[in-house]
Amino acid sequence: MIYHELIVVGGGLAGLRAAVEAKKAGVDVAIISQVWPGRSHSGAAQGGVNAALANHPESADDTWEKHAFDTVKGSDYLADQDAVAQMTKDAIPIIYEMEHWGCPFSRFEDGRIAQRPFGGAGYPRTCYGADKTGHYMLHTMVEKAYEAGVAMYVEWFVGRLIVDEGVCRGVVAYDMISGGWTAFGAEAVIMATGGAGRTYGNSTNAIISTGFGMAMAYHTGVPLKDLEFVQFHPTGLLTTNILMTEGARGEGGYLLNDLGERFMERYAPKAMELAPRDITSRSIQTEITEGRGIGGKGYVHLDLRHLGAQKIQEKLPGIRDLAIHFEGVDPIEEPIPIVPSQHYSMGGIDTDMDGATVLPGFFAAGECACVSVHGANRLGGNSLLETVVFGRRAGAAAAAYVKALEEKFDSSTAARRAIAEVEERIDRLADNAVDGEDPYAIRLEMTTTMKEHFGVFRDAATMRVGLDTMYELKERVARAGLRCTVGVFNLDMIRTVELEGMIDVALGIAAGALNRTESRGSHSRTDHPDRDDTNWLKHTLAFYQPEGPRLEMKPVALGMFEPQERTY
Ligand code: FUM
Repeated sequence: MIYHELIVVGGGLAGLRAAVEAKKAGVDVAIISQVWPGRSHSGAAQGGVNAALANHPESADDTWEKHAFDTVKGSDYLADQDAVAQMTKDAIPIIYEMEHWGCPFSRFEDGRIAQRPFGGAGYPRTCYGADKTGHYMLHTMVEKAYEAGVAMYVEWFVGRLIVDEGVCRGVVAYDMISGGWTAFGAEAVIMATGGAGRTYGNSTNAIISTGFGMAMAYHTGVPLKDLEFVQFHPTGLLTTNILMTEGARGEGGYLLNDLGERFMERYAPKAMELAPRDITSRSIQTEITEGRGIGGKGYVHLDLRHLGAQKIQEKLPGIRDLAIHFEGVDPIEEPIPIVPSQHYSMGGIDTDMDGATVLPGFFAAGECACVSVHGANRLGGNSLLETVVFGRRAGAAAAAYVKALEEKFDSSTAARRAIAEVEERIDRLADNAVDGEDPYAIRLEMTTTMKEHFGVFRDAATMRVGLDTMYELKERVARAGLRCTVGVFNLDMIRTVELEGMIDVALGIAAGALNRTESRGSHSRTDHPDRDDTNWLKHTLAFYQPEGPRLEMKPVALGMFEPQERTY
């Protein structure tokens, strides 16, 4: 058994930031990551990170309180306001910390960090590095983690948690390069594995964003919160759903329908293309459904041509490259065909502001966690911010937890049991190789069902059919067959093992969505079109049961801002 005092699962921004903080506190910490950390999905974030720095000429009187207000209003009042206040206050010093650590943010003429407008924000407060902000922040953090001496287990897949007498004491992981399962004993674990985008067939997310980290927590009895709130980014590339940053609209890009209209005038006359993502995605979907998609088809245009070649090349070089290579369209010459695409899981592992969960020794941070600062709809630019703010807090809290322990526990028996259970499961999957279910067929049915039945607009009849399908898939996945049994780099095994967890998380999304009989943020029901604060100003908690999720409710932390009607 390998031992470290603290194990961080996931090498994206939240995991790296947590590990650096814990290491600073004197704890022996290791990151286990399926990919080299510089390839984590945090690197796909493009447009920026929010902080009320007040550097932009139009944001001289911006404050963290205004940032908090925009975040809470954007969340459709479901965010916990104490957590939002913490995040927006911490935003300012943490961006300067990133700057001092070498993150190459874009600059204004006077040398200060540049800021651009983003959706749902009263001020231009999104700090950016061209349209590669996540990439720049991620690489800065990777260097910082290596410099701090964080141990790295790269290309290891974590398959389950080790829980001994009700306390989390490590993980079991598969060494992709050498083969074989190994136990990692630890005094505490931080889960930082990202979102569950790949449960949908139309996602901007990386292949590794499966939600399996959430599932591992869920299976041990930790509840998942607010899963039904799934963000659709308004502008995914038509044929691949690759992200076309909101920064493109922040720099002045238009959304156009088949008639050449800037149709956002009908839906958000003040904010126009910079309305929050839930509203913008619904507006695009309405244009498409009512026949005003381009050529009557299922997409509209993101038009940047009027920005000119120089601005596009300077501020948006990444999306230009992506549009050229993946859609055959040069935005300098032609409008980009786009469609709303699954982008972000507002829900996740239920944590407090320090990443702590109901399971002692188990913490979570980043997109796999739900603190909750995004409520029913996240503002663009608050995701990168959440990773570093709550990654740091989780790292500090886990380090304090480890240091306060009076004795180190011997978990070797629990670890042996956990490994034996994983190996038995792999053997069972392999026994089904010939007569079992095809896991790729199940995966395709899951992603298609989630896309078609739990999308931008929802209603009970459609969701009920989708939920029934998900229950059938849950039965079928128990008989999934593993065809490839080679020891090393067995991606077939990883994809098959994680599928059961993905289906459980997807079932949680589906059950939560059908249960919530109102429209709030990203959860928009045509059969319950209004927000219902009397009955539904509360979080959903999903508890794992083999027969399907059990749902409970949890109050929202209010205090700074009274819920109001949302107009933009
Ligand atoms: O549009 C974007 O650049 C995405 C940013 C985000 O999700 O925060």
